[in-house]
Amino acid sequence: MEMNSAHQARNGNPWPRRRLLQAGCASVLGLTFRSPLANAMYHIAPPAEPDAAPMAPTPECRDGDEPTPRQGAGPFYTPDSPQRANLVEPGLSGTPLVLVGHVLQTSCQSLAGVLLDFWQADDEGHYDNQGYTLRGHQFTDANGQYRLETIVPGLYPGRTRHIHVRVQAPHTRAITTQLYFPDVSQNERDFIYDPLLLVHLLESPSQEMKAQFDFVLRV
Ligand SMILES: [Fe+2]
Repeated sequence: MEMNSAHQARNGNPWPRRRLLQAGCASVLGLTFRSPLANAMYHIAPPAEPDAAPMAPTPECRDGDEPTPRQGAGPFYTPDSPQRANLVEPGLSGTPLVLVGHVLQTSCQSLAGVLLDFWQADDEGHYDNQGYTLRGHQFTDANGQYRLETIVPGLYPGRTRHIHVRVQAPHTRAITTQLYFPDVSQNERDFIYDPLLLVHLLESPSQEMKAQFDFVLRV
């Protein structure tokens, strides 16, 4: 896979969010997904309410950041995924991927106890629609951080590499979106690809890929 991390600002995005939005991403954002039915199908119970005390802003956050864009869940979401941060099971092929990041408010405060429900295709571009392979949910820790261990998702017809995720802060509605990878040639041919949703590739000492993405929620 051809990827590099040069010139990437936070979350791998070389352009400020606001500039991209102003430059005409409305057509992409117009495809966003806010189905009440999908929310109703979301059966995972939220965690216990986190500490009410506000947490310190993370240093890279800029006050007033736009919320993470929503995207459709697609046809392969399965509710009630297992709670686990490591989706790698014995016998699973593919390039190991560690995805890390924060969940933040637009005011830059970290959000603890946020549900992150991930699902993705395997190395050959297939979803497990009978079981829970490459599906799992977790909650951000007291610092608003998460860490997902998985593999780099494969390609399937019409789509570039992507990971689906639903994000839900306590007492709020879930948002659904998708994460993308930089320098994948299929990105520009994918009809819902959004550069605002690129992960930022990090240095990795081993064969695994390490990437970072911070979710920003308006709560
Ligand atoms: Fe997908």
